[in-house]
Amino acid sequence: MALISFFIVLFFLVLGLFLWSIRDRKFESGLSVATAYDAWTEDKLLERLWGEHIHLGHYGDPPRKKDFRLAKVDFVHALVHWSGLGTLPKGSRVLDVGCGIGGTSRILARDYGFDVVGISISASQIKRAKELTPAGIKCEFHVMDALALDIDDGSFDGVWSVEVGPHILQKQLYADELLRVLREGGSLAIADWNCRDLSDRKLTFFERLVMRQLLNQWAHPEFSSISGFRQNLMNSPFSRDSVEIDDWTASTLPSWLESIFEGLRRPWAVLGLGPIGLMKAFRETPTILLMHWAFSNGLMRFGVFRSRS
Ligand SMILES: C[S@@+](CC[C@H](N)C(=O)[O-])C[C@H]1O[C@@H](n2cnc3c(N)ncnc32)[C@H](O)[C@@H]1O
Repeated sequence: MALISFFIVLFFLVLGLFLWSIRDRKFESGLSVATAYDAWTEDKLLERLWGEHIHLGHYGDPPRKKDFRLAKVDFVHALVHWSGLGTLPKGSRVLDVGCGIGGTSRILARDYGFDVVGISISASQIKRAKELTPAGIKCEFHVMDALALDIDDGSFDGVWSVEVGPHILQKQLYADELLRVLREGGSLAIADWNCRDLSDRKLTFFERLVMRQLLNQWAHPEFSSISGFRQNLMNSPFSRDSVEIDDWTASTLPSWLESIFEGLRRPWAVLGLGPIGLMKAFRETPTILLMHWAFSNGLMRFGVFRSRS
């Protein structure tokens, strides 16, 4: 029996690796991003493994051992405090751009008393975000493109956007839209996967191979560098007096390997989805390992951005 199980797992591992190598999820347009997230939401794998948050965790500085899901919640509080969003009074209006299934929006509403609007390009995510939000939590969710926000200028006290930029080709327009809807004196909080500044040091041949997978496997057209996206925020016609940045690579790095260990700690989250779920989990594993390598070796950096006028 053990031998049969071993060969079944091996079969799905090989199939998953085969799919990874021949079928990527190359970015084509916002539509391809929406399709990818619709699929990731509907198959439930991500939610069963990662919970309500589709972003990295914060493991402290220096990083320490922590529960995988708690680290994600801690990340939200760390960014609220670092960005200054936490100083906004209760009842402030906060926009969560690229809200996933609403995990962060609910924390901002429940723990800080904000009135939150979450938007995502994925209709399945918005449907799931609404299902997961209990009555009484002040969050509303809409399908909307971050590059064409159907929102009046200066109508939010806070704008939040986490791990969205890599899915967006027009980085300047993304920066412009985030700043356009923020009122004077409001707080901006952004966190993203960034590549190192390539004007400092070009990609090596091996890094180019890795970078191609990091882009093509998860519908990313391009990564900005931290300084490059700061420049986008500074260059915007809606720019504020200052844009401050920090590098949280070290405190978020454990998330990558922990997301694989989480699959081992909660095998039923994957096995409960049957053989297809198992194959899909194996299919994502090489990209997660490459991300870990890239963030450990200086190819990728985790950037945070704040702005307040
Ligand atoms: C890595 S997930 C992060 C989700 C969420 N911010 C979180 O922290 O859990 C990226 C999110 O960006 C959204 N997204 C990507 N491109 C978008 C666009 N052009 N407009 C709106 N949402 C977008 C995806 O639908 C997804 O919700």
